[in-house]
Amino acid sequence: MLAVLTSTSQTLPTPSAPSTAPDALDRQMIAILDFGSQYSELIARRIRETQVYSEVLSYRTSAEQLRQLNPCGIILSGGPNSVYDKFAPLCDPEIWNLDIPVLGVCYGMQLMVQQLGGQVERAANAEYGKAALFIDDPTDLLTNVSHESTMWMSHGDSVTQLPDGFKTLAHTTNTPCAAIADHGRHFYGVQFHPEVVHSEGGLALIRNFVYHICECEPTWTTATFVEEAIREIRAKIGSKRVLLALSGGVDSSTLAFLLYKAIGDQLTCMFIDQGFMRKREPERLVKLFREQFHIPVEYVMARDRFLKQLEGVSDPEVKRKRIGHEFIQVFEEESRRLGPFDYLAQGTLYPDVIESADTNVDPETGERVAVKIKSHHNVGGLPKDLRFKLVEPLRKLFKDEVRQVGRALGLPEEIVKRHPFPGPGLAIRIIGEVTSERLNILRDADFIVRQEINRSGHYNDFWQAFAVLLPIRSVGVMGDQRTYAHPVVLRLVSSEDGMTADWSRAPYELLEKISNRIVNEVEGVNRVVYDITSKPPGTIEWE
Ligand code: XMP
Repeated sequence: MLAVLTSTSQTLPTPSAPSTAPDALDRQMIAILDFGSQYSELIARRIRETQVYSEVLSYRTSAEQLRQLNPCGIILSGGPNSVYDKFAPLCDPEIWNLDIPVLGVCYGMQLMVQQLGGQVERAANAEYGKAALFIDDPTDLLTNVSHESTMWMSHGDSVTQLPDGFKTLAHTTNTPCAAIADHGRHFYGVQFHPEVVHSEGGLALIRNFVYHICECEPTWTTATFVEEAIREIRAKIGSKRVLLALSGGVDSSTLAFLLYKAIGDQLTCMFIDQGFMRKREPERLVKLFREQFHIPVEYVMARDRFLKQLEGVSDPEVKRKRIGHEFIQVFEEESRRLGPFDYLAQGTLYPDVIESADTNVDPETGERVAVKIKSHHNVGGLPKDLRFKLVEPLRKLFKDEVRQVGRALGLPEEIVKRHPFPGPGLAIRIIGEVTSERLNILRDADFIVRQEINRSGHYNDFWQAFAVLLPIRSVGVMGDQRTYAHPVVLRLVSSEDGMTADWSRAPYELLEKISNRIVNEVEGVNRVVYDITSKPPGTIEWE
């Protein structure tokens, strides 16, 4: 799993209007055409770290659409195909006549070479992993990139003949054309992946492209993002009313801060207490919002309703469905009671709206999989007569950018750095039936986990840290008494994004403290076991 660099800067973006809006023309941006690389999003993040706005677009974006977007530069991403495949994804060849600098990365470079009259062939020696880059021309693109830098390679094809006007900037032992340029037309290509952390000097290369070749200024900052977002929210909402469902996580909290700043009392925040949050969290959340942030919150106590839905239910997917369905019921009732509302605010983030590159093709027919855009279950599940218009001011941001915006708006670190918490909450951490007694046991055990992790100063080392209650019993001995009670699983994991994870090598002293306290303080638990399964093959949650 590649680590994503965390931006050290406190600042970021400009726009929050859709990029097709007229004001997009005034904004500096780098467009990334996605040919299916797993790193396309990472390229966008790297560019945003230079404080220049960047968007991932489908490789099918036409030259005309690009002309209207008016990017300062275009990056062609890598991809799984070979440019000489029958159904290889191609870009609009008119792109080469736009007079906009282009950087091709891996497949993107090969495509550039092929479309401009050069030659790409299967490499005699495929290169995967690290390779030393020998620099032949240290000017523009490779300024400040050291000779023999380690770069991350992942390719089976190579450029064997450059198009007219191109020259080689660098090579590796196996790849004669590892970096190329047509300086006159500002076309550049690299066979390696400058966006991955393993590529030394990769960020220097990206900065050279963004600042010097595309002549962008680092103006995409948190402050300008907030300013523009507020302006746009006001223009869009006017005097209408907006409803927001708070969850206590960083996305919905940042959204609440931003909207409240923009439209004040026209915003109604609603917190539905399903009864599956951690001990004292609902009270803490409502108190923080009302007393510290002075943002009114409608607290909806719905614990009994949710618990009733889970009576006799053990199957994890049935639990999720029942909880999701009940959430929509309560949401609907409460929005009618508090409404009417014109808009529903959603914390949709950029990774949810990026169009997939859609490069998976049937080798026989060339048919491509339809473009998928994720939608939020709350909206899809609402009845037809309760349709809201959506306001999604965070839809341009990556998660760590949301954190920066949250911080800039005054959100405290306890929310900004809060671990992810699943929507169904503790209900999917109680294996078997969820009852109020079992919820109390898990809440108490989980509270100790959280308390000890906070005290140890290790909170930020974990992606998630929690307890799971098992439905089995084991024998123990306390004092002179035999016990026959439930085990609790301790799950501490590290991860970059939740897609893959590893069990944490937590200090023994911390594990010991947690185990001792849980067994001594939580009635009904006589054993603590530590989950040492990574993901894959395990998942982070137990259900
Ligand atoms: P798994 O368990 O699949 O979880 O490794 C990956 C991440 O997703 C969270 N998760 C959920 N979040 N509703 C949510 O909102 C769910 O039903 C759900 N299930 C898992 C999990 O906590 C982890 O961060």
